[in-house]
Amino acid sequence: MCGIIGAVAESAIKPVLAGLGRLEYRGYDSSGISILSNNEIQTRKVQGKLNNLKNMLSVQPIDGDCAIGHTRWATHGKANVINAHPHQCGQVSVVHNGIIENYLQLKQQLLQWGHHFKSSTDSEVVPHLINHYLAQQMSQEEAIEKTINQLKGSYALGVLINGDSNNLYAIKQGSPLVISQGNDGAYMASDAMALGADSGKIYYPKDNELIKINSHEIKLCNSSTNKKIHYINNKHCTKVISKGEHSTFMEKEIFEQVDLLKRLSVNNHASDYSKINFNALNKITIIACGTSYYAASVAKCWFEKYANILVEIDIASEYRYRSPIIINNELVVFVSQSGETADTLAALQYAKSKKAQTLALVNVANSSIAREANFSFEIYAGPEIGVASTKAFSCQLAIFYKMAIEAAKQRAFIDKAELNQLALNFAQLPYIMEKVLQRCTDMKVMAEKLSTYSNILFLGRGVLTAIAQEGALKLKEISYIHAEAYAAGELKHGPIALLDENMPVLVIAPKNELTDKLLSNIQEVQARNAPLFVIGDSSIREYINLQENEFFELPSMPESILPIISAIPMQLLALYSAQMLGRNVDQPRNLAKSVTVE
Ligand code: AGP
Repeated sequence: MCGIIGAVAESAIKPVLAGLGRLEYRGYDSSGISILSNNEIQTRKVQGKLNNLKNMLSVQPIDGDCAIGHTRWATHGKANVINAHPHQCGQVSVVHNGIIENYLQLKQQLLQWGHHFKSSTDSEVVPHLINHYLAQQMSQEEAIEKTINQLKGSYALGVLINGDSNNLYAIKQGSPLVISQGNDGAYMASDAMALGADSGKIYYPKDNELIKINSHEIKLCNSSTNKKIHYINNKHCTKVISKGEHSTFMEKEIFEQVDLLKRLSVNNHASDYSKINFNALNKITIIACGTSYYAASVAKCWFEKYANILVEIDIASEYRYRSPIIINNELVVFVSQSGETADTLAALQYAKSKKAQTLALVNVANSSIAREANFSFEIYAGPEIGVASTKAFSCQLAIFYKMAIEAAKQRAFIDKAELNQLALNFAQLPYIMEKVLQRCTDMKVMAEKLSTYSNILFLGRGVLTAIAQEGALKLKEISYIHAEAYAAGELKHGPIALLDENMPVLVIAPKNELTDKLLSNIQEVQARNAPLFVIGDSSIREYINLQENEFFELPSMPESILPIISAIPMQLLALYSAQMLGRNVDQPRNLAKSVTVE
């Protein structure tokens, strides 16, 4: 998604380019930079990767001490140079992250005033409006304030204005923005990850606070307030994150999971979870998007099974539009790796407006969702760079598992022995995961065969239906193979019509109380000549004849940790299939790591 960075520093182009580099992981299709020097704004923009921008800058260099930069993820208008940011009008250059919902009306008005537009973006109305008000002799601050009062939607803006002194302005509404005062300069960015080592102190502006940055100071300068900026320490990792010996970040993050889970099992943050009075709760609602939503689906099963709590789950983009009923003593939990997902943030704001108690489960402490919720827990996955979420999923599940144990303990729904067993199962988790990862070459062989198909159907039963859904999502997002997932029992209610020799079916088949039912579903698949692939317990092979490349063996393990373990072969399948098809694993087309627009 779009990323913004701005700097007021000597040779500001350097920190801006470095910041854009740190934002690359979010996904983008074009980039650009504006610099203000000697009373002139100069801009360079390119389509494609940041290297193109660096190449252009080496041929057409620009320099100065006040700069803004942008990586664009196209929403309004194609991914090309004209639509790339910054957008300039007269003395004003702007970078924007978010969506200006009423841009068509504003553009209409500006056209009537005689303005000409170059791009098809929603963002271009912003420099035009600011420039329009500057021409009416308003001060820079007044012109920006007057402009943003007319904008509807969500935005974080970086604004350069050529005037008496070199000023960089930053303002936001609904979208993430961070300001930082360093030793060598002052910075603004859409993501604290973009800030480099010179960013010890940071400030998260509130909506509509206008921040003015120049070489003397960083100041809040809304006409109606004289508040001071209170900085906090930057907890974000400013170290360069490398792939180590791995070919992609996704591969590194998959193999990192063993150590992360070892750490989570030693460090039992139980004191955090015991802050929740589960006995007082009538209901838990868990809200999220994508992979985080599938973590919520698994969590629902655990809370219901082990703690007998009513749990509802919802997709964040739907929640606030369906008049949800929030009951007394309901806890609404928001799960988000990035902590910045616009749909999840909006759902959280909705729940708060209805006076619900809210809890955030995030990977990024201090993210917008963590700050907005009544309280928040971290999942301790460390920075996740690959667009496809892997280690964050396992850590979300691990934290939910621990919360479910705490809930079971408080509500005394299961006996002590069972409770202890759940904790022991968790301690085994990293070692069983290690065994699965050691079998990664078996999955390479399966991926070699499966990646030759254009469509794949995933089946699971019970809690593993969510893992089948997560597996299908993972595969389609990075390999671009069309994949759908169903609860196996649903096959006969429709999807079975798709089955023939060109529609492979991948079944998660552990040994558990649903194995017999699943075997019947598998018979239905085989009877229709659909190629069958199984990730499951070795005993399954007594019943079904499968080639080596059609079977991935899951080690035997306790039922409670099956969802966390069986996600691993799914991640490997997606990774290897994408690699075999020559896809960009870490930055798949059209996707963004942090989805900050609705
Ligand atoms: C996961 O592989 C996806 N890239 C995506 O579904 C992601 O999980 C979703 O956008 C939610 O993101 P969040 O956890 O940062 O809120």
